Amino acid sequence: MAQLWGGRFTKETDKLVYAFNQSLNFDKRLFHADVKGSMAHVEMLAAQGILTKEDRDAIKEGLQSIVRDVDEGRLKIEGEYEDIHSFVEANLTERIGDAGKRLHTGRSRNDQVALDMRLYMRDEMDETKKDLEGLMGAVLGLMKEHKDTFMPGFTHLQKAQPVTLAHHMGAYFEMFKRDYERITSIRTRMNVCPLGSGALAGTTYPLDREMTASLLGFDGPCENSMDGVSDRDYVIEFLDALSILMMHLSRLSEEIILWNSNEYRFIELDDTYATGSSIMPQKKNPDIAELIRGKTGRVYGALMQMLTTMKGIPLAYDKDMQEDKEMSFDAVDTARGCITLMEGMLKTSTFHKKRMEESAQHGFTNATDAADYLVKKGMPFRDAHGVIGRLVLTCLEKGIKLDDLPLSDYKKESALFEEDIYEAISMKTCVERRLTYGAPGAMDQEIENAERYLASVKDK
Ligand code: ARG
Repeated sequence: MAQLWGGRFTKETDKLVYAFNQSLNFDKRLFHADVKGSMAHVEMLAAQGILTKEDRDAIKEGLQSIVRDVDEGRLKIEGEYEDIHSFVEANLTERIGDAGKRLHTGRSRNDQVALDMRLYMRDEMDETKKDLEGLMGAVLGLMKEHKDTFMPGFTHLQKAQPVTLAHHMGAYFEMFKRDYERITSIRTRMNVCPLGSGALAGTTYPLDREMTASLLGFDGPCENSMDGVSDRDYVIEFLDALSILMMHLSRLSEEIILWNSNEYRFIELDDTYATGSSIMPQKKNPDIAELIRGKTGRVYGALMQMLTTMKGIPLAYDKDMQEDKEMSFDAVDTARGCITLMEGMLKTSTFHKKRMEESAQHGFTNATDAADYLVKKGMPFRDAHGVIGRLVLTCLEKGIKLDDLPLSDYKKESALFEEDIYEAISMKTCVERRLTYGAPGAMDQEIENAERYLASVKDK
């Protein structure tokens, strides 16, 4: 068992204890971050005269050779090492001798792991943002393509007023934009470097924390060393952002599942993004959307786990914090996978424009517009609401739409109705006259704004 301690122990660790305590199985993901942190640390130690230049060069070369061997598969991250930090240090010492043992000068595993986790999660935040750019691109593509794909807009899952698919997808664009912005703000807040915090109280070596922070791309060192080793807020915040993102993906998945049902038939999932049934040959199932919806619980679970893990632990570092990894890694993988799958599913799906428009024509989605017609002719809205309500009843009895109700029936309810009622309640009018900022008639502006937003974040 390779451990970084042992001097004050007289017996070997119990096997069960060792297995329970070790974290190599999962913190091996932090390998590259760990080496990156060590490189910056030795660079600084040498610049401060704490380490000789020869030792620095030997350590850096040794670390680089370990990275090469791991990346090229010659060295597997496995074996009897307590954690990734022990793995790297033991391999280094094996390769370069005593200089390897000097790597840990002025550092504790507490600030080391705090740094590794921060570096790893910071990269994951950047990658998640790139994934989101792809997804927003797919949503924007649909917005541009479906400006005149009419569909019913729902409230209470009842047909309410006609909208367009562009408008419907525009709502998701806004959600993903907020997700993106949330991650950006977390990343800004978390970009301080814990290295140099030591075990909890800094060190007596003259460390240059500004230097390591800047070598590692941080805005500066963290202000308080006890906070430095024990802060995992950014993990919680990231899981929170991912949970909200998953909630958005889950809502969209739910819509896709509904739209894919026989009752709706708004969408045709591509064969590459659907699955069949082992017994019912006719079926094409939306498993991917269902799985995204289902995996949402998993990401929420990670958020709850992290909040609970952190809630009772006193300052500074406690081993509980080792539990910040497995479920967080899983949540990040899960959410990123779901973003990419959703992008692919949207890009490959076909929307049944005619069927969507037909659906919008039924269910009296133009009843509000019919009432507004009377209002524009001077009737108070509440009275107009009553008139149209009665006309809807007539239509229901006759089994027809408001568009097909004869003018004579309209006139029985109000003398204000003229031939122009039909034009006033046509689908095209209902949608295109909704010119309020953010409404389906004002999509050109919304699309332009979305395009500008996406171009601006991609530029960064
Ligand atoms: N495996 C540990 C973790 O993930 C590394 C830090 C260990 N520190 C310590 N004092 N035992 O948190």
